[in-house]
Amino acid sequence: MTRAFSSGIPALDAYLADGYDTVPGMSSRFSATICGHVLRRQSEMGIRGSLAEIGTFEGRFFIAMGHALAPGEHAYGFDIFSWPDDHVLDRFVANAARCGLAADRFTPRPFDTGKLTVDEFAGLTGRGPLRFVHIDGEHSPEALGHDLALAHARLHPQGLICLDDMLHPGYPFLVVTVHAYLSAHPEMCLMCVIDREDIVAAAKFLICRRDAVKLYENDLMQSFPAQHFILGGDAMGHHCVVLTPHPRIADV
Ligand SMILES: C[S@@+](CC[C@H](N)C(=O)[O-])C[C@H]1O[C@@H](n2cnc3c(N)ncnc32)[C@H](O)[C@@H]1O
Repeated sequence: MTRAFSSGIPALDAYLADGYDTVPGMSSRFSATICGHVLRRQSEMGIRGSLAEIGTFEGRFFIAMGHALAPGEHAYGFDIFSWPDDHVLDRFVANAARCGLAADRFTPRPFDTGKLTVDEFAGLTGRGPLRFVHIDGEHSPEALGHDLALAHARLHPQGLICLDDMLHPGYPFLVVTVHAYLSAHPEMCLMCVIDREDIVAAAKFLICRRDAVKLYENDLMQSFPAQHFILGGDAMGHHCVVLTPHPRIADV
């Protein structure tokens, strides 16, 4: 029997089925489903902490993350909230309400993350560990490097950093920044590549500490066999999981 492609969180799966496409945004449903699954797995393993997103826009991916919050946890959404107009924050809050994310579960943070110190970022995320940080803000090498430094400093030891728009044709060299980050932090590792759906729903990277890889990788391969590209990925010496909507290899 083919397993359902779902996160396993009923509220999140209902949002993915009925609300996700109604919220303007750029993250794929494919990646949100897999990220929902790993967020559920974190809760089941007792990994607790806040969730944060840099580059919330109107909330498409953020609301999905929010539906994975465990009791007592909180989600923080950072954005300059001024693009493409000054009403994007209002639409973000309205989308969250319409899609069932309670107002007391999350806090919008209208900040340019490039101007935040690690201590300021910590203060704006409740000072506790972050178990999942989605980075989808400004896509310059400098901004991504800074956002990675903020996330790295506040990450739960068994937490995940999720990077959007990796391998995007519009940002062909952004992965150089990720390579530099991983080279500077050999304790960190690219654990999984979640492949693109489309040019506006691009690939994501899941990064964690090397000693946390075992918590996630076998589970991902076993939970998503129909999406598993069995050749995997060469990730700076680590053989990472690759999940893709239509796994196949070229005919030769
Ligand atoms: C690609 S959109 C995010 C899409 C969203 N994560 C989703 O899944 O639908 C990028 C967002 O990053 C925000 N952004 C750009 N530079 C930023 C900065 N320096 N600090 C915070 N947010 C920033 C933009 O305002 C924009 O809303």
